[in-house]
Amino acid sequence: MRHQVVIIGAGPAGLMLGRLLERAGVDAVILEQRSADYVLGRIRAGVLEQGTVDLLRRAGVGARMDAEGHAHAGCRLEFDGDALRVDFQALIGQQVMVYGQTEVTRDLMAAREGLTVYGAEDVAIHDFDGKPWVTYRKDGQTHRIDCDYIAGCDGFHGVCRASVPQDAIKTFERVYPFGWLGVLVDQPPAAPELVYAHHARGFALCSQRSSTRSRYYVQVGADEKVADWSDDRFWDELRARLSPEVAQAVRTGASIEKSIAPLRSFVAEPLRFGRLFLAGDAAHIVPPTGAKGLNLAMSDVAVLADALIEAVVEASDAGIDAYSSTVLARIWKAERFSWWMTNLLHVFPETGDFGRRIQRAEFDYLAGSRLAQASLAENYTGAF
Ligand code: FAD
Ligand code: DHB
Repeated sequence: MRHQVVIIGAGPAGLMLGRLLERAGVDAVILEQRSADYVLGRIRAGVLEQGTVDLLRRAGVGARMDAEGHAHAGCRLEFDGDALRVDFQALIGQQVMVYGQTEVTRDLMAAREGLTVYGAEDVAIHDFDGKPWVTYRKDGQTHRIDCDYIAGCDGFHGVCRASVPQDAIKTFERVYPFGWLGVLVDQPPAAPELVYAHHARGFALCSQRSSTRSRYYVQVGADEKVADWSDDRFWDELRARLSPEVAQAVRTGASIEKSIAPLRSFVAEPLRFGRLFLAGDAAHIVPPTGAKGLNLAMSDVAVLADALIEAVVEASDAGIDAYSSTVLARIWKAERFSWWMTNLLHVFPETGDFGRRIQRAEFDYLAGSRLAQASLAENYTGAF
């Protein structure tokens, strides 16, 4: 079998890249180790930057987002119960769209015309410095695909980054000493906009998926187990960390999903190795506080798609030569913002009382400075 491009991974990065390539007439196959249902069952991000919204529309998969997503003109920050609304629209004329990653993935899957192989086991990539080829097992048989380019869109634990020789790649990493416990519930949101709360007991976030479905998170220790968190314990902890106004408005119910995500900052450099490219979580991880993970994956593949189309259709390497440095510039800005939001809003046991006073001063500075708020708004909405 031969295809121009083999994409490893059918998360949002792989599916969007496949979509952009097929619309330009470039033939790409996607190999995904899991089933389609498993991919759709993962509950992850919920906030889309304007650039992601525009890309979904440009790719012809924006109709349901436009009908069912909710545009948000601001968000609310809390610090020990004191509140600050950051008005993105008034400050910088930007908004974000609340529309779940699950729905983005579903829309991209539904639109796809090319071949996606789900349940592709033991994917291996070969000779990406020369004439690349990929092997995988499916239904007990080994298959081989020859190709011109390989796109590693296979997430943080994927095979592509792991296949690069150690001396050809440098990685930068910070692992945080806590995770996020998330709960999805079929109840209306506690507030019209997202609420990011710092509290002495730890961070809390009130997010939403629709007018009838809410997503909540609380900071928990890195070694906590989901089994130790009954729904009642979660609701009590969440409400204890919010201002009375928001806490009273939380509508509780039986959780329909509950999971813990570790928090990490990670960047690999470079992101091109001959004819292999890394994009999305395969290339970088941000802590979720700034809502950047999915958006960065989308901005990576927008650049990669243009580069690959240029290479295949116009036989020009200019785009693929520039890919790594182009996307890394944006990646590091998003890493900085995500790290900053994480530092402001979480409790870091090791920084003690001095650390908490500095966090309070940062919040007070934000509350009193339109310029500081505009900077937050620029970064949060992706207008950088
Ligand atoms: P992924 O979505 O990870 O997709 C990679 C795909 O590759 C997967 O389908 C995987 O099954 C497949 N794959 C992996 N290895 C192989 C292999 N060897 N062969 C074939 N296929 C393979 N971001 C936010 O902004 N907010 C959040 O609340 C948030 N929560 C998150 C919670 C968790 C548990 C995780 C892991 C991430 C979260 N993120 C969040 C980040 C965001 O979801 C990711 O940035 C986004 O999914 C990146 O998309 P991707 O396509 O690059 O990677
Ligand atoms: C959601 C996740 C985030 O990390 C975030 O910053 C905002 C919203 C969510 O899952 O809805």
